[in-house]
Amino acid sequence: MGNKNFETNAIRTQTERSQFSEHSTPLYLTSSFVFEDAEEMRASFSEEKQRNVYSRYANPNTSEFIEKICQMEGAEAGHAFASGMSAVFSTFAALLNAGDHMVSVRSVFGSTHGLFTKFLPKWNINTSYFDINDIESVAQLIQPNTKILYAESPTNPAVDILDLERLGEIAKQHNLILVIDNCFATPYLQNPIKFGADLVIHSATKLIDGQGRVLGGITVGRADLIREIYLFSRNTGPALSPFNAWVLSKSLETLAVRVDKHCENAMKVAEFLESHAKINVVKYPFLKSHPNYKIAKKQMKLGGNVVAFEVKGGIDAGRQFLDGIKLCSLSANLGDTRTIVTHPASTTHSKLSEEDRMEVGISDGLVRISVGLEAVEDVINDLEQALSQL
Ligand SMILES: Cc1ncc(COP(=O)(O)O)c(C=O)c1O
Repeated sequence: MGNKNFETNAIRTQTERSQFSEHSTPLYLTSSFVFEDAEEMRASFSEEKQRNVYSRYANPNTSEFIEKICQMEGAEAGHAFASGMSAVFSTFAALLNAGDHMVSVRSVFGSTHGLFTKFLPKWNINTSYFDINDIESVAQLIQPNTKILYAESPTNPAVDILDLERLGEIAKQHNLILVIDNCFATPYLQNPIKFGADLVIHSATKLIDGQGRVLGGITVGRADLIREIYLFSRNTGPALSPFNAWVLSKSLETLAVRVDKHCENAMKVAEFLESHAKINVVKYPFLKSHPNYKIAKKQMKLGGNVVAFEVKGGIDAGRQFLDGIKLCSLSANLGDTRTIVTHPASTTHSKLSEEDRMEVGISDGLVRISVGLEAVEDVINDLEQALSQL
């Protein structure tokens, strides 16, 4: 395995068959595993023998899920977590020491921002931020104690694009560990390791699950770094449950077909919005009008399923637009079969000052739409009728 096409690996990578000759991988809902004798138990605990010991460390379902994502991302190794945020936190907690410093893009996912500003500083780990449009300023932010360079692309919620190749060069030049949150792109659309990333993080809760059912997270990349992350997780316990791993591994079998369709629908929604008189700006990576269209084309296979747009009329119009929505869901998730619409300025980012919001590209009227797999005409009709009420 591992040498075939993306879709084939996603389907044919499978846990060893049991004595029951099952076709599809069963659910190994067990917290622990048994040993033949004292010697096998000793060798397993000391890791002289590679085998399952306890599901906080590893489980056949989590191992299958990790193996698939490693193949998809071109990674040496990986470790799976209970959520995207436990993957983000464990990655930093395992690799950083008190007094270390990070450089991160300013517009990161809200909880990641909370981790950087509220929790990591408790251990004297501080972060400096660079602007999405000024990657070259990273060099000026680097300190003798800087260890990690961190970014997301596309970003959440403003769908900005960062040049991963350039970030890879900067990280190499300054001997930094480059960590990329690849959640919006999925391993099907973008592989940051190709551009120099050392580690790639996913919230599997999004398009990897794809049906809004379970939480999950994963970090993949350099084996030496994953070893540290694994040891941290093994001792602190943010393990992915076998059930969720089983669901997520099954979901990966259909990732390519689902994401192709999500992207096709999102492109149609983006084109519709771009031509609408009540909309100021539409941001979608594969629209020619996206400020970093060329970079998106270079590093992504398709544009993803998230479209950001600004309704004319600021915060009130944004809220009114959401109130007019009938078919789509108002929900915090994204990457679901169901189209989801959110208004960051009055919800997820309402605690930020207007100035801070603008710094990360969240204008008052910004709406984020995670385009699902419904018939796209129905989604467009819903958006159309909600816009007509403004
Ligand atoms: C870019 C990004 N990273 C990380 C996360 C966190 O993932 P989870 O909700 O699975 O903890 C999210 C969730 O929305 C996200 O959008």
